[in-house]
Amino acid sequence: MIKLSRLSKELIERILADSIDFANGKAVQATQPIYVSNLFFESSTRTIVSFDMAERRLGLQVVPFNIQTSSLNKGETLLDTVKTLKALGLDLLVIRHPDDRYYNQLKDLDISIINAGDGTGHHPSQGLLDLMTIKQEFGSFQGLTVGIIGDVKHSRVANSDADALRRLGAKVHFSGPEDWFDHGAMMNGTYRNFDHLIPEVDVLIMLRIQHERHRQKFHLAPGEYHQRYGLTLEREKKMKPGAIIMHPGPINQGVEIAPELVESPRSRIFKQIENGVFTRMAILKNALEQRGFSFKEIN
Ligand code: CP
Repeated sequence: MIKLSRLSKELIERILADSIDFANGKAVQATQPIYVSNLFFESSTRTIVSFDMAERRLGLQVVPFNIQTSSLNKGETLLDTVKTLKALGLDLLVIRHPDDRYYNQLKDLDISIINAGDGTGHHPSQGLLDLMTIKQEFGSFQGLTVGIIGDVKHSRVANSDADALRRLGAKVHFSGPEDWFDHGAMMNGTYRNFDHLIPEVDVLIMLRIQHERHRQKFHLAPGEYHQRYGLTLEREKKMKPGAIIMHPGPINQGVEIAPELVESPRSRIFKQIENGVFTRMAILKNALEQRGFSFKEIN
């Protein structure tokens, strides 16, 4: 699974249904040994640990792979690394990489690749766990208004969320510094003034400033960014009853969101993290079934 735009609406709905089944206690195990490895070329807490948890809960054989001590450090390419892991018997790799579309070079290899984030490109498993969290809350996406706020230009989460939400019937709007909104490229939503948008949203997705992807140093101090573009306590009061706050994490408290709101009644931020394990179980199961592997229910 590389990006959500390659998944049909039906497949997205099937993965969400499986995710919710897993959240409700369904348990399955692989019926034969399946070998998987997680290759993270960028830092991660949520994604790497939830894939690891999901793999173990499905009864997969998780083969440790440490980028720092691998032969990548001797100049081996990503392509040769993946070919090597396939030759060693790996069936599926979860990969996070700083390069946009790193996966194109791997497309002819007969091994499953799950994209755990490519540069500013896509983060499909985060997109699916965000969809699961919204579906649990509202039951469907049709007619929902979703605001995605912050560093839209550099956010692979914004790309994945906006594409899928729009296809499933939600209205998507963006806000944040207008320099970070590409009016030409962002086809999945419109740019709005944050203070005008806030009373309309059912779901507010706040984004971290992706400093590591900026070519130029960002000029606003954290406190000034928070006042101009962050979810302050004053802005939260203008949200309508029942509207929820989400954030893919990691959070820079006091910058994109007031610390008091992170675990407030509207917040679903820790629910998103919890849902990450169930969604990734569904993603892995689905990808492996497409390759002919099978799972049996154990409860
Ligand atoms: N949301 C997300 O991708 O978090 P990590 O970088 O911690 O995996």
